[in-house]
Amino acid sequence: MKIFINNRFYTEDRAKVSVFDRGLLYGDGVYETMRSYNGRIFMLGEHLRRLRKSAELIDLKIIWSDKNLTDFLYRTLRANKLKSAYIRLTVTRGIGPIGLDIKLCKNPTLMIITKKFIPYPDNYYTKGVKICMSEIRRNHPLCIDPQIKSLNFLNNIIARLHGKYFEYIMLNLNGYVTEGTVSNIFLVKDSVLLTPSIESGILPGITREIVISLARKNNIKTLETLIKPEQLCSADECFLTNTSIEILPVKKIDTRQFSSPGKITQFVQSEFKNLVRRKLDKDKVILYNMTKDSST
Ligand code: PDD
Repeated sequence: MKIFINNRFYTEDRAKVSVFDRGLLYGDGVYETMRSYNGRIFMLGEHLRRLRKSAELIDLKIIWSDKNLTDFLYRTLRANKLKSAYIRLTVTRGIGPIGLDIKLCKNPTLMIITKKFIPYPDNYYTKGVKICMSEIRRNHPLCIDPQIKSLNFLNNIIARLHGKYFEYIMLNLNGYVTEGTVSNIFLVKDSVLLTPSIESGILPGITREIVISLARKNNIKTLETLIKPEQLCSADECFLTNTSIEILPVKKIDTRQFSSPGKITQFVQSEFKNLVRRKLDKDKVILYNMTKDSST
């Protein structure tokens, strides 16, 4: 694999950052995980917007334009001959002397790692996965705001230490459900789709946003709200979302079993797949027109 670091490609064994990089020293940086389908990065604009939002919240300047970043990402995919890929874009505050003052650091470090996307086993989607409640609470928004997709991931790592479950769900400090360590959570009760509100203290997941809008478009009543753990355990259906897993049904949370995947989960799964297809087709048209333009 070729890794992109600050405008240059390195082989994996040579892809290194300084011991003085603040991403390493302090977890001082932000990242995005993306997915490409058939050579096109899904929801790229939304990922770049969230990257900028995360960076803004820690006063980190993203010095590259969206056009630059798009170019870097596609160049990395091409360099690795990848079409369906997992892509991670990381921006750290860069190299500087030891010390917390952000003014000590002028040039951010940008890294892009890609790898071939390996789908999860089919039975995860047809039967569901087992998850459990974590004893670790999600960071309070007045600490490291969960809206920042930051390199400070230790809280989530601790929440799943030594675990054997697919995902671990964290409550906030007031005892309401927030999200998993790498995914958002949805439940269905009496045909209503519910998911923790942003105010619960979650990452505004891009897949979560798509699910909410698909559900509303299809007249499924959808609420972003505070959710108690008891509501989760008495739900009719439950599923997780993120860029890599898309929509993944939950068959068991702690000792509570769900009939999985439920009707609404299946509907959302198929609507999501249609949306991916439609977006890729639309991109194809754009690419086709670009080729036509350049040949005239
Ligand atoms: N994780 N919540 C958390 C804490 C996450 O880390 C993620 C994404 C999500 C889902 O967001 P999205 O739908 O935009 O992928 C929710 C990615 C996959 C990661 O950390 O690699």
